[in-house]
Amino acid sequence: MQELLLKMKQITKKFPGVLANDNIKLSVKPGEIHMLLGENGSGKSTLMNILAGLYKPDIGEMYIKGSKVNFKSPRDAINAGVGMVHQHFKLVDNFTVAENIILGSAGTKLKLNAAQAEQDIKLLASKYGLAVDPAAKIWQLSVGEKQRVEILKALYKGSDLLILDEPTAVLTPQETRELFQNLRQMAQDGRGIVVITHKLQEVMDIADRVTVLRAGKAVATLNRDEITEKDLAWLMVGRDVVFQQQKFASQFGVKVLELNEVQAMNDNSRPALQGVTMDVKEGEIFGIAGVAGNGQRELAEVITGMRTCSSGSIYLDNKKITNLSPQKIIRQGVSHVPEDRMGTGLIPKLGSVDNIMLKGYRNSYARGPFLDYKKASADTDKLVSDFNIKLYDPSAPVSLLSGGNLQKLLLAREMSLKPLLLVAVYPVRGLDVGATETVHRLLLEQRARGTAILLISEDLDEIFKLSDRVGVIFEGQINGIINTEHADLEEIGLLMMGAKQTGDMPQ
Ligand SMILES: Nc1ncnc2c1ncn2[C@@H]1O[C@H](COP(=O)(O)OP(=O)(O)O)[C@@H](O)[C@H]1O
Ligand SMILES: [Mg+2]
Repeated sequence: MQELLLKMKQITKKFPGVLANDNIKLSVKPGEIHMLLGENGSGKSTLMNILAGLYKPDIGEMYIKGSKVNFKSPRDAINAGVGMVHQHFKLVDNFTVAENIILGSAGTKLKLNAAQAEQDIKLLASKYGLAVDPAAKIWQLSVGEKQRVEILKALYKGSDLLILDEPTAVLTPQETRELFQNLRQMAQDGRGIVVITHKLQEVMDIADRVTVLRAGKAVATLNRDEITEKDLAWLMVGRDVVFQQQKFASQFGVKVLELNEVQAMNDNSRPALQGVTMDVKEGEIFGIAGVAGNGQRELAEVITGMRTCSSGSIYLDNKKITNLSPQKIIRQGVSHVPEDRMGTGLIPKLGSVDNIMLKGYRNSYARGPFLDYKKASADTDKLVSDFNIKLYDPSAPVSLLSGGNLQKLLLAREMSLKPLLLVAVYPVRGLDVGATETVHRLLLEQRARGTAILLISEDLDEIFKLSDRVGVIFEGQINGIINTEHADLEEIGLLMMGAKQTGDMPQ
């Protein structure tokens, strides 16, 4: 039998109030890509941080190539051949690629050998398709390139067990495919690769084996030939999940939202929107795709009145709403499901009824100087049952609700206002597969009743599935608009990287 690269046994790790890892067993063979699949908070990062020497398990044993290890620091893990690429890169911006890679490798001795190091890095890079210039400064690199530097760093240190924590979250579809090819090459050279993900499709695409975590427990490990999407979803969520949402053909009506050459600054007073022109029609879902940080957030904020539009104009239903207050914009029929649910969407300390009233109070719940709590209460009850929100006590602080229920409550409130325009920003971020399904259904229902929907999401599959048209945002401009009926993910990926739209791309 082939010797295992890694064996973890009974790994248990408690954080205050949560059992992050509960008696977990995991093994990795040389040559395999082993996916670690689970919802947000299921314990994936914790388990891998233990393997990388960042956390110590409360209980449990680890064996690397048959020998028991007891890591006291990341350094110990590196010396044992474990390399981890974290979700947030740990690179020094003002240093070159080569300097970052050899940093901490073997202290001063290597400094003398910088030229040699650059040579070695070039070799490694070309062997595994990790194109990056060793002399470039980190701040000059794209996110994808930075990730390659992190991988090179691990390889350079001789890791034969490589862990990547949600590596595709920051990549375009093309970059993701390249990464997977490169990882396959590394595995073929006898390394063991662990890839953390919450995306079922990625498991289907490249896993040799998959271990599914749910609420801190490893609920199953499956071989390639045992994997189906349906089973994975069941294992991950603990119940059946419906994937296909019926998207009925919609009759688009008039332009509800119109932006002309809109410009705005970001929080650091740098240009974030640099002339956005687009529109969203009645009964249409218009998706915004793009690599994070290209102006998505600012776009939502400028439309909802939360950010100043420095030039250009915004129209809702042919009425100018440029730089009106958020209250005025709401009253004209704009609903908003913001990125930060607790910060700008809901008030954590208030109960559900109060949070529902929060938005309606200027009109529907005012009874003279008083608020009609009874009506709000009845309305809340109805929303709770219509939207299947699990709410045991409507007056308990909403901060106690789970992510999925919170998002449903927020959507319920925003949709119940029967808006002309719904701006939904990352509406399923952090939700499990089941809650995601509900949110998608709700969005499609809104579309069917004629609401214009602007959907900003980091999940291309989601955008593609739900949207009628997709605008790709790149460096603060809409770099191309694509009709999803005739387009594919490839084209969107190219536009996300800044390619210009060609004439034959369907509008
Ligand atoms: N350093 C920490 N301190 C306290 N709680 C933590 C810490 N890291 C993770 N947790 C908690 O442990 C659980 C598992 O988290 P994590 O391993 O990050 O999950 P995943 O990577 O699967 O999303 C979560 O409930 C999280 O809030
Ligand atoms: Mg994680």
